[in-house]
Order: sequence, then structure tokens, then C-alpha cells
Amino acid sequence: MEVEKKKEMRYAVVTGANKGIGLEIARKLAEEESVIVILTARDEKRGMDATSSLNTTHLLNGNNKKKVFFHQLDVRDPNSAQALANFIQTQFGKLDILVNNAGASGVVVDEEGLKALNIDPIAWLSGKATNTVQGVIQQTYEKAEECLDTNYYGCKRVTEALLPLLKLSDIGARIINVSSLRSELKVKMFENRMPNERTRKELNNISTLTEEKVDNLVKKFLHDLKQGKLEENGWPMMLPAYSVSKTMLNAYTRILAKKYLDMYINCVHPGYVNTDINWHTGTMAVEEGARGPVMLALLPTGGPSGCYFDQTEVVEF
Ligand SMILES: NC(=O)c1ccc[n+]([C@@H]2O[C@H](COP(=O)([O-])OP(=O)(O)OC[C@H]3O[C@@H](n4cnc5c(N)ncnc54)[C@H](OP(=O)(O)O)[C@@H]3O)[C@@H](O)[C@H]2O)c1
Repeated sequence: MEVEKKKEMRYAVVTGANKGIGLEIARKLAEEESVIVILTARDEKRGMDATSSLNTTHLLNGNNKKKVFFHQLDVRDPNSAQALANFIQTQFGKLDILVNNAGASGVVVDEEGLKALNIDPIAWLSGKATNTVQGVIQQTYEKAEECLDTNYYGCKRVTEALLPLLKLSDIGARIINVSSLRSELKVKMFENRMPNERTRKELNNISTLTEEKVDNLVKKFLHDLKQGKLEENGWPMMLPAYSVSKTMLNAYTRILAKKYLDMYINCVHPGYVNTDINWHTGTMAVEEGARGPVMLALLPTGGPSGCYFDQTEVVEF
């Protein structure tokens, strides 16, 4: 099918969009008349199936043009990110929206054991359940590396490969990094998600923060994990690698937003959504989870940049 190259069309990439919140973000963006979606997934078949299902619904709804295009993307593979950039360059010539949604939990889980604990969602979210889950959720070094390479370095890899195309957007590109409340630096009544005060201060000092500093913190975390010193050195103990990956993703978001002043670059906690990543402990539907990321993808000109959202509300990091 021939691709329209209309100036007013906006082109949007969603990563990890074969299921869960990513698929719903792709669906919602495709419903926008002026948006063409490039749905990406690491697995060709899963991605093609999701793309076909969105296009079928769209055409059945009386539309006559395909709105969703598939391209393979494994965010851990630099060649895959570059192949995606080449595809977009050839087919569309620019990119307006990038939703970095792909994510991994980064732990080994005894799913039956977790289910049997029947943890109250409030305790899960607040961190009160941290000690309770230690017997059923295991943080291995291998899983931590995979998680950081997906959620943090993967997002950087894809963003860097697509930045030349995002710079060509004539409306000011929107970059949305799907984060988590596990990323939060603010000190709460029941849980300090990042107990190490020095790390919190370093990440919160946006005037001195650099990518190198953030990368070094990731290396320090992995080193401490290997040494068995996570608790001693003040790292999060609830989903340690996942929490750290999202904290660092937020820091990267702020650094990028400071660098690219004509873009709208934000990160967002989608809500506690019932998907595979949390072994279906989440309480919200994907439709609700997609709301924040979609709002940020369609942000009007002059909207905020360098901010962190809890669903659709801007909140403190
Ligand atoms: N659900 C929640 O409550 C919640 C809360 C806070 C934040 N989030 C964030 O929301 C985002 C979406 O998660 P979800 O809840 O929709 O979970 P999900 O249903 O498990 O979806 C995760 C997606 O990421 C993809 N993915 C994983 N590794 C990848 C890689 N190397 N390359 C490309 N794609 C990869 C998965 O692909 P495969 O199908 O191939 O595995 C899948 O499409 C994640 O960033 C997650 O951290 C979710």
C-alpha cells in the first residue's frame, strides 16, 4: 500500500507495542486522523499480528487507508534501532512522536508464590510489601543487566538512532519515556524509594547532571549488586534493577529536555496496569494506562518539557 507523504501528517513510533500498554498507545494514536503509527516489536510475528489487528479494526470502521505500519525493533540491538531509522527515513522522511514504552521487569519471579501472597495493591505500590515479596521475587545479576539494557540503555539507544529524524519534525518532536512510580526520588511517608541521599541529590541537581554521571550510577548499582551491597549502599530493595532503570530513565529525560529546547520530552508513570510485566497484579485497564502517554504524545505546542507525570498529572520527580 502506498504511503501518504502529506506535510501535515505526524509520524509516531511506539516501542514494545505488540501487547499491553504499548499496543493500546498505538491503537489510540492510530485513531487520530493526522497520525501514522509505526508499531514496533522485537518479535516479527507478534508485531505483525498486532499491526494487522489495528489496521483491520481501522478499515472496518469505514476508513480507507492503512494507519499502522510495522517495523521490527529490539531495543537491545543497535543494528535493529538503526534499521528502524533507515526505514522511517526512506518511507516518511521525518519523525514527530517517539514513545519509548518497551520494558522488562528485571527479576525472576515465582508467579504461583506471588499469587498466593495475595498482596494488597496499596501495600505493593507504597513499598510496604518489599519484605513480604523477597521470597518470591529474586533479583539476579543477569536479570538486572537485561533490565537496565532494556529500560534505560534501550531507550537511549533508540532515541539516539531516531534523533536525526525527530529533529526534522516541523512541529517540535514529542518524546515520551514510559517510566514508573518506582523511579521517584521524592521522600515519602512510608517509603523512601531511593534511600541513598547522595544519589538522590545528584540525580535531582539538573544543572550539573550529565549522561556520563547517570551511566556511572548505573555501573555503581550493578557493582553493588554483584558485591551483595544493595541495601548497605542505599539502593531500592523493591524490584531493585527495575526501580533504578526507571530513575535513570527520568534523569535521561531531564537531560534531553534541557538539550533539545524545541522538543517536548517528558516521562510518565502510566498507572498500576494489569499486564504481563507485573504478572497481572495491576488493577487498571490498559485503556487507562495509555491515557498519560497518549496525552503527552499529542501535547499541544507550548506544552511542558522535562517533566514527570503520574498518569495525566505533572508531579515532582
Ligand atoms: N503495567 C504497569 O503497571 C506499569 C507500571 C509502571 C510502568 N510500566 C511501564 O509500562 C511499559 C509497558 O509495560 P506493560 O505494562 O505494557 O508490560 P508488557 O505487557 O509486559 O509489555 C512490555 C512490552 O515491552 C516489550 N519488550 C521487552 N523487551 C523488549 C526489547 N528488548 N525490545 C523491544 N521490546 C521489548 C515486550 O515485548 P515481548 O512481548 O516481545 O516481550 C512488550 O511488548 C513498560 O516500560 C513498563 O515498565 C508499566
